[in-house]
Amino acid sequence: MDVVIVPTPAEVGEHAAAVTARLVAASFPEPVLGVATGSSPLGLYQGLAARVRSGQLDLARARAFALDEYVGLPDAHPESYREVVRRTVTEPLGMDPARVRVPDGNASDLDAECRDYERAIVEAGGVDVQIVGVGVNAHIGFNEPATSLASRTRVEILTDETRQANARFFDSVDEVPRRAVTQGLGTILDARNVVLVATGAAKAAAVAAVVEGPVGARWPGSVLQLHPAVTVVVDEEAAARLELADYYREMARARGDVAG
Ligand code: F6R
Repeated sequence: MDVVIVPTPAEVGEHAAAVTARLVAASFPEPVLGVATGSSPLGLYQGLAARVRSGQLDLARARAFALDEYVGLPDAHPESYREVVRRTVTEPLGMDPARVRVPDGNASDLDAECRDYERAIVEAGGVDVQIVGVGVNAHIGFNEPATSLASRTRVEILTDETRQANARFFDSVDEVPRRAVTQGLGTILDARNVVLVATGAAKAAAVAAVVEGPVGARWPGSVLQLHPAVTVVVDEEAAARLELADYYREMARARGDVAG
């Protein structure tokens, strides 16, 4: 993994946007993005949007697949990931809504929807750049602890911890759905590149588990250690429990990822 530690959340967004833009350029003109929702990637999306506005990046023919979607929220609910992706990705990045897909959490046959989603990713040629955040329990997508490391897109039951963490987007934790459709860990591993962003002290244990912990289902994001092209961009607070932080800083300087 390439681990890049920067001082502030704003710099996480800017650096991760630069990495993503570089990877996307390699697949121009029809890159396939995998997109996370939540707070972590917002700065990254803003950085990409700025590049689109200035003409440095053109995503008009790009495709995107969301990582996940709640089961049972009305499509038009402001916190449905369909809406969040429209608001934070499709519109600001100048993407064609017909080329952006979010799992249908209201499908009458959810298993069929999951199979169809997997097929659609393959038919698009696979994901070039998968953007992921990480939960406090190290979930990626909504792959909660005990997920098979080979799992595919399916319905997952959310942990209380995850529902509490996401309660900030709703009026109360009772409104947070109990289930979600999520790309599996195996699905995420199929992406050609992964960019993980995390900020804040609450993510420090998860980041340490993902980067340095044993690979295992207790901390599902640790499976990214098996992927050959992962960039982890974190701020100082999220990096606080990395045992080898100084080594990562030295490596990032040697690669030219950060000045100094
Ligand atoms: C969202 C997703 C989740 C989030 C994670 C962190 O699509 O897949 O894994 O990335 O829960 O959420 P934030 O960034 O809001 O802390």
